[in-house]
Amino acid sequence: MLSSLLLAAAGLLVKPTYSISLEVSTSGGNSSGALPVGMMFEDVNHGGDGGIHGQLLGDNAFQGTNASLFRYASIGNATLSIDDTNPLTSAIVRSLKVDVPEDASGEVGFSNDGFWGIKLPQGTYSTFFWMSGDYEGDVTVKLVPKTGSGTEFGSTTLAIKKSSKWTKYEAKFDVKAAPNGNNVWALTFDGSKTAGSTLYFTLMSLYLPTYLDKENGLKPELAQPLADIKGRFLRFPGGNNLEGDTIDGRLRWNQTIGPLEDRPGRQDVWSYANTDAIGTLEYLEWAEYMNLEPMMDIFAGLALKGETVTGDALEPYIEDALAQIEYAVGDSSTHWGAIRASHGRTEPFALKYVEIGNEDNLSNGCASYVERFQRFYDAIHAAHPSITLIASTADLNCLPKDLPGDAWLDYHRYDRPDAFVEAFSFFDNIPRTNKYIINEFAAIYHNNGTRATYPTMRSAVAEAIYMMGAQRNSDLVQGLAYAPLIAHLAAVDLYNAWTPSLLSFRNDPPVTILSTSYFVQQMFAQASDPTDRYVDVVADGPLGPTVFWVASVSSGGQGVVKGANYAGVGTALRVRFAGGVEGTKRARVVVLSGDAEARNDEVDPGAVRPVEGVVEEGAEGWFEVEMPAWSVVVLVAE
Ligand SMILES: *[C@@H]1O[C@H](CO)[C@@H](O)[C@H](O)[C@H]1NC(C)=O
Ligand SMILES: *[C@@H]1O[C@H](CO)[C@@H](O)[C@H](O)[C@H]1NC(C)=O
Ligand SMILES: *[C@@H]1O[C@H](CO)[C@@H](O)[C@H](O)[C@H]1NC(C)=O
Ligand SMILES: *[C@@H]1O[C@H](CO)[C@@H](O)[C@H](O)[C@H]1NC(C)=O
Ligand SMILES: *[C@@H]1O[C@H](CO)[C@@H](O)[C@H](O)[C@H]1NC(C)=O
Ligand SMILES: *[C@@H]1O[C@H](CO)[C@@H](O)[C@H](O)[C@H]1NC(C)=O
Repeated sequence: MLSSLLLAAAGLLVKPTYSISLEVSTSGGNSSGALPVGMMFEDVNHGGDGGIHGQLLGDNAFQGTNASLFRYASIGNATLSIDDTNPLTSAIVRSLKVDVPEDASGEVGFSNDGFWGIKLPQGTYSTFFWMSGDYEGDVTVKLVPKTGSGTEFGSTTLAIKKSSKWTKYEAKFDVKAAPNGNNVWALTFDGSKTAGSTLYFTLMSLYLPTYLDKENGLKPELAQPLADIKGRFLRFPGGNNLEGDTIDGRLRWNQTIGPLEDRPGRQDVWSYANTDAIGTLEYLEWAEYMNLEPMMDIFAGLALKGETVTGDALEPYIEDALAQIEYAVGDSSTHWGAIRASHGRTEPFALKYVEIGNEDNLSNGCASYVERFQRFYDAIHAAHPSITLIASTADLNCLPKDLPGDAWLDYHRYDRPDAFVEAFSFFDNIPRTNKYIINEFAAIYHNNGTRATYPTMRSAVAEAIYMMGAQRNSDLVQGLAYAPLIAHLAAVDLYNAWTPSLLSFRNDPPVTILSTSYFVQQMFAQASDPTDRYVDVVADGPLGPTVFWVASVSSGGQGVVKGANYAGVGTALRVRFAGGVEGTKRARVVVLSGDAEARNDEVDPGAVRPVEGVVEEGAEGWFEVEMPAWSVVVLVAE
C-alpha cells in the first residue's frame, strides 16, 4: 500500500499489533460547527510587534512605560538619549535625541538592531522616519551587518530640507538577501555640517515586502504558514492583553486606528510595549486576506489584576464597544464608518462574531460578569441583531440566569496531554442550552506537570483527541482555536511570559518553527467543513483509551475519518463507508507521527512533518491505513 510505503520510507512504520475496523454511516449524524478550526491572536512574546507585523525596527517610537535604548547604537560618537520635550504628536511624545560632537566629521548617526536581529529576505523594502532639527543635506539609510564588515545589503539616500518642524521622510529601496539576521538599520548624516548640534528622530520604520504586498502589512514568513492552515476564523486582539493589567491600562481600540503617528501604543500585559501598528483595521484586514471570519473581542469592564467596572459606570464602555463595532460594519454614512473610510477602507467588513470580554470567570470577574455580560449583550444585540455574541466563559455561575439562547459560550482549556485525552467525552456531558466555542486551548504542560517549551508529538496527539471529542459534538461546539499563535524565541528567553506556541521563530540565528500542534491544526482545518455531518461509526474495538476516531461526511460526498493513536505501538485502521461514498475509489491520507517526545524546535525545526499518500479502495470497499505509534491520521475518501 502506498501509505505504508511512504511511512516506511519516512521510518515511521511500526508493525501494528492489532487492527481496528470502522464502518462509517453515511446518513444522519450531527451537523458541523460553523467555524471548525480557527486562530486566536494576541500580541504575546512579540508575536505581533516584531513578529507577524511587517515593521522590523524595535522600540521605534519609545512607547510603553519602559522606553529604552537597548536596541540602538551610536555611530560617529553621537550621544543618544530618549527625549520627551519635543513631541511629534500628542500620541508619539518620545523621540531619539542625537547630540553630535563638536569635533564631528564624516558619518554620524545611529543604528537599530530590530527585534533581536533583522532578517533580510531579498526584495524592495520601504523605510520612513520623522526628523526635526537644524540640518540640510543628505541622510543615508542602510542595512548592514551589526559587526561592520563593509557589506551593505541595501541603502538609500534622502535629501533633507532645513525645517524646524517635524518632517516625515520615506523611501523604497532594493535589498539583497542577508545570510543571517545579525543586521542593523543604520541612519547617518554629515557630521561636519551638524557638529555641535542636536537632531531628533522618531517612528523610525523599516518594512520588508509584506504578505500580499499591503501597506503596514504582515511578514510573509509568518503570515503564509497561518494562511496555509486554511482555518475559518481569527479572534483578536486578545486575550489577556485586551484586558490590560488595570482598567486604565486596557487596550483602547480607538487608539489603534488611523495614521501611526496618532497611535500612542501601550504597555501590554506581557512585559513589553505594543506599538498598536496592528490595530483594529489591520486585524480586520488580516482576517480578510486569509479568508477568515473576524471575531472581534471587546473590552467588557474587567482588568487582569481584578479591577472591574459595574453599574451605570459601564455605559461609556458599552458606547465604546458599539463604536468599535460600527468602525467595522458601519457604512460611510455612520460616524465610525466614515472614520474607517477616511483610513482608506470604504467597504464595511462582514463582522459576524463579537466576544464580550475575556475569561471573565477569572481575575475577580465572575460575580460582576452576570451584569456586565447582560448589559453589553442587550446593547449590542439591539443594534446588531445578526451578530453572534460570545460570552467569555462557559461557567453558568458567572452568567445571567436567563442567558439568551443565541449567545455562544467560550470555554478555554490549558492542560496536560493526559487530561486532554481524558476530556474526549467532556463535551458529551455539558449543558446543551447554548453553543460553545473553544477559543483557546493547548497542552502546555507535560504529564508530569512541568511546563512544555514546545508542543511534542504526545501533546499534539492529545490535542487532536480533544478536538475529535468536540467535533463529535459539533452540533454544540462551533469550533476550536489553539492559543497562542506566535512567539519570538528571544522574547520567550527574556520574559518567559508563555510557552509553548503554535509557531515560533528567531531572527538571529534565523529559524521558523512550525510545531507538531501546528500540523494537527492544519490537518483538522483542511478536513473539516461547516457543511459536514458527523456520523455514527460501528467499530470492532473500543473508542479509547488510546485509539480514537471521528467520522464525517461532507455535502459534496466526501467521507472523512480522523484518527489518533495515543500509544507507543502502531495499529492498522480499516475504514469502510456504508454503501460506499459515491464514485470513490481512493482516499487521501495524511499522517503525522513521531516519538512521544518528538518535537520541532530550534535544534531540529523539521523533526516532525506530516506524510501524505493515497490509498486505493480494497476488497469490499475497505480502505486500510497504518496508524503508527503516537500519530494523528486524516483519511479523506473522494
Ligand atoms: C570617537 O571618540 C573617540 C575618543 O574621543 C575618538 O578616538 C574617535 O576618533 C571618535 N570617533 C569618531 C568616528 O569620531
Ligand atoms: C525594561 O527594559 C529593560 C531593557 O532595557 C529590561 O531589561 C527590563 O526587563 C524591562 N522591564 C520591564 C518591566 O519590561
Ligand atoms: C475614543 O474612545 C473614548 C472612549 O469612548 C472617547 O472618550 C474618545 O473621544 C475616543 N477617541 C476618539 C478619537 O474618538
Ligand atoms: C474559568 O474557565 C476556564 C475555562 O474557560 C477554566 O479553565 C478555569 O478553570 C475557570 N476558572 C474558574 C475559577 O472557574
Ligand atoms: C517531565 O516530563 C518531560 C517530558 O516527558 C521531561 O522532559 C522532563 O524532564 C520531566 N521533568 C521532570 C521534573 O520529571
Ligand atoms: C451527536 O451528539 C450526541 C450528543 O448530543 C452524541 O451523543 C452523539 O454521539 C453524536 N453523534 C455522532 C455521530 O457523533
